[in-house]
Amino acid sequence: MATATQKVLLFVIYAAINGVVIMTDSAPIFVFGDSTADVGTNNHLQNCTARADHRYNGIDFPFSRTTGRFSNGKNAADQIARLLGDYKVSPPPFFSLLTRKSTFKRNLLRGANFASGGSGILSETGQVTFNKVICLGEQIQQFSTVRRRITKLLASTKAADDLLQNSIYIISIGSNDLVESLFSGQPGGPKKFIQKLTETYVTHLTNLYELGARKFGIIGIPPIGCCPAARVFNSTGCYEELNYNARLFYGSMQSLLTELSQTFEGFKFSLGNTYAMTMNVIDNPRGNRFKEVKTACCGSGLFNGAGDCKEGANLCSNRGDFLFWDKFHPTETASELAALTLVYGEGAEYVTPMNFSSLAMA
Ligand SMILES: *[C@@H]1O[C@H](CO)[C@@H](O)[C@H](O)[C@H]1NC(C)=O
Ligand SMILES: *[C@@H]1O[C@H](CO)[C@@H](O)[C@H](O)[C@H]1NC(C)=O
Ligand SMILES: *[C@@H]1O[C@H](CO)[C@@H](O)[C@H](O)[C@H]1NC(C)=O
Repeated sequence: MATATQKVLLFVIYAAINGVVIMTDSAPIFVFGDSTADVGTNNHLQNCTARADHRYNGIDFPFSRTTGRFSNGKNAADQIARLLGDYKVSPPPFFSLLTRKSTFKRNLLRGANFASGGSGILSETGQVTFNKVICLGEQIQQFSTVRRRITKLLASTKAADDLLQNSIYIISIGSNDLVESLFSGQPGGPKKFIQKLTETYVTHLTNLYELGARKFGIIGIPPIGCCPAARVFNSTGCYEELNYNARLFYGSMQSLLTELSQTFEGFKFSLGNTYAMTMNVIDNPRGNRFKEVKTACCGSGLFNGAGDCKEGANLCSNRGDFLFWDKFHPTETASELAALTLVYGEGAEYVTPMNFSSLAMA
């Protein structure tokens, strides 16, 4: 087995032979998912209504830019990319890679972000609510386009395969499937529904594996019943039904991923238990340096969880003290804490069977 450094060197040499010199000492990162990881995908979708292209989103981003991130600053995809390699933020959205011809080659080999706010594991999730989102299946189709382009760029299937096998695949999705199914009903009950959801997830992962992916950093579903939007429906606590579904999902993913890693040669994964991580913060805010874990920083109504975060909404000034940015999404500080745990965490409590930094080296 080549060491990680040797692998990177090999890759730089391949690339140099083909006339592209890549200055990087970290493997490419490909990001899939929903609004927890979207860095501007939905800005490119004409009719999509799941958008964060307006204030106060991005207020703590450099130059207070609104980028399409559902956050006051960097989101989980940015924070993980920052910790895993020589990235300042997440790789750019797939759509903007395509449109920026001048930097296409250089950027393509560093990864891409396909995540689309409002999307789900199931292809139908979000499509009616938000008119148009890119579901996980379509995100993977876009990745296959990237794979073709990379193979062409490196002029070698072997070089492309090596590169893609060493890349990290971060996936953060599932919350929207749970929220929508709560309203549309779960035929056969929650257990049946979660089984269908995780089985569909496995099909997607299998497709990614067949396209060359090996290292999967999977982020579980947080306790979405505790986000301000859900607390609106239970003034004394969290919306238990949503949390129950999120816990079922985690358990089911854990056993399916273990099976996958035993079935497919070279399949490696980390599963992040964002449910337990977030619950730890909610139960013990001070120990985690948060002051407010129920009310959103930006929004309106009960818990700032009834109205959207937009100009004119309530906006807190001490954003570092808040767990929630808006009625659904964590603050930059909360995303950073989660990323630190996912990347460097020890022990099986929050990330299993290995942390993301071990996954990167595996
Ligand atoms: C957006 O919606 C309009 C009106 O329904 C439709 O005519 C148009 O084709 C849609 N555009 C895209 C890119 O889907
Ligand atoms: C509301 O919160 C309380 C306190 O945590 C909990 O016991 C109850 O089950 C919750 N109700 C719903 C409908 O989720
Ligand atoms: C990650 O996990 C490995 C294996 O459990 C552990 O040895 C290591 O200390 C953890 N942290 C980092 C930064 O790798």
